Amino acid sequence: MIHVVKILETNYSYIIEDGFKAMIVDPGDADPLLNRLEILRLIPECILLTHNHSDHSNGVDEIKRKFPKVKVINNSRDSLLAFNSDNTVTIIHTPGHTQDSCCFYMPKRGVIFTGDTLFTGLCGKTDKKYYFEMFNSLQKLQELPLYTKVLPGHEYLSNSIEFLKTLNRESGFYNSLLKFDYPSLNTTIADEINNNPFMSSDINYFTKIRDLKG
Ligand SMILES: [Fe+2]
Repeated sequence: MIHVVKILETNYSYIIEDGFKAMIVDPGDADPLLNRLEILRLIPECILLTHNHSDHSNGVDEIKRKFPKVKVINNSRDSLLAFNSDNTVTIIHTPGHTQDSCCFYMPKRGVIFTGDTLFTGLCGKTDKKYYFEMFNSLQKLQELPLYTKVLPGHEYLSNSIEFLKTLNRESGFYNSLLKFDYPSLNTTIADEINNNPFMSSDINYFTKIRDLKG
C-alpha cells in the first residue's frame, strides 16, 4: 500500500508499505512522516529523493537520527534499485527542474513518483537554459505504460486549471478531479499525454507555454 502524507503547504510525501518495512519519498518535513510511521508500525529502509530542494528533503536528517540505518537515494542517472520483486524501483533521470531531478518508477505497483518534474496538468519550473532538458524528460515519461499512476510532489491542480484557461484549453478532465481529497493524485501517464499541454511533442509549443507560465 502507498500512504499519502500531505506536508508543508502543498507538498506530497509518500510512504510505500512493504510488510513491516517502508520506503519514504521526498520527506520535506520529518514530523508528519515519523508520526505516520509510528501509527503504521513501519521501519523505513530507504528514502527516495526526487531532487534536493528543501521542501522535499528537509526531513532527511531527523529521520536518519531516529532510523540510522535508513539509506538515502538520489541518483541522477538512469538505474535500477531492487528491494524485492514487488518493490523494484527504476530511477529515471529527468533533468530540467534541477539537474539532479529524477523520477521513481515502480512497475509492479504501476506508479511513478514525479517530484517537481511532472505535476497534474503542469510541469515543474525550469530555467530557460534547461527547457530542452525538461522537454526531453517529459518525452521520456511518455514511454511508460499508459496506465501508470502519476504521483507528483505537489498539489497544484487549481493552478494547472487556471493556466489551462489562459491557453483557452479544455480543462474538463482536471475539473472533474477536484471532487477528490487529493485531486492531483488521480491521473495517469495517458491522462497527462491527453490533457497536459507540457507533454506536447512540439518543442516550440513547449517553449512558448513554459515562457507564458513563467
Ligand atoms: Fe523543487
